[in-house]
Amino acid sequence: MKKIIIGNWKMYGDPAMAAALAQSIVKNTAGKANNAQVVICPPAILLPHVAPHLSGSTIKLGGQDCHIQPDGAYTGDISALMLKQAGCTHVLVGHSERRKFHHEQDIDVRHKAARAVKTGLIPVICIGESEEERKAGKTKDILAQQIRECIPEEAIQGDFILAYEPVWAIGSGKTPTMGDISDIHAYIISLAARRTGMDSASIPVIYGGSVKADNAREIMAAEAVSGVLVGGASLKAEEFCRIVAAAT
Ligand code: 13P
Repeated sequence: MKKIIIGNWKMYGDPAMAAALAQSIVKNTAGKANNAQVVICPPAILLPHVAPHLSGSTIKLGGQDCHIQPDGAYTGDISALMLKQAGCTHVLVGHSERRKFHHEQDIDVRHKAARAVKTGLIPVICIGESEEERKAGKTKDILAQQIRECIPEEAIQGDFILAYEPVWAIGSGKTPTMGDISDIHAYIISLAARRTGMDSASIPVIYGGSVKADNAREIMAAEAVSGVLVGGASLKAEEFCRIVAAAT
């Protein structure tokens, strides 16, 4: 399986920056990204400023969220089909920032992932424990619940990616030990295999939370890690390209 490297730009960027960053990523990974599937997820309004620069490259485009309904009176929301029409192949669902600031629950995440699959997008289903839950020794319980609740029937035997992002590692510069990452990923894979009936080898689980050029190689080499979900470091062309290079 190719390593999956996803850049989540969050709410950063403007048209000029988005075009320049996309062009730079394409140029600097050309011919070098054979061992990696790279996906970049700009803010929705910047998708049209990024998409033209990716055509003809192997780099794919993703959304950061989608609505559970195909369309409707949902002011401010974006549908999975709109993302697809803008050139997306992937969409993040259930990111901890959506859960925190938009009060999304596991059931919402499941419906979003289902909508993505029905629309022909690959959902990147984000799960992970908070610092409080970790300190209380509840990490595995939380993950078990999220896996049970967030993977929709529609995704079973289909294409989906799980992203393990411990909330306390996001933007903090802190990461779990490599041993802990491997242990948690193996646990996630075994539960997801049980939930879906899929072969464990075909369930990609990527790690997110303070991934940088300096730790990406070690993280991607860890047992049971299929790739990385990168926030801050995906906004710097040179650093992001070094992360892509670390997959080889
Ligand atoms: P950082 O890489 O900035 O810690 O963010 C991780 C993240 O939330 C990616 O989705």
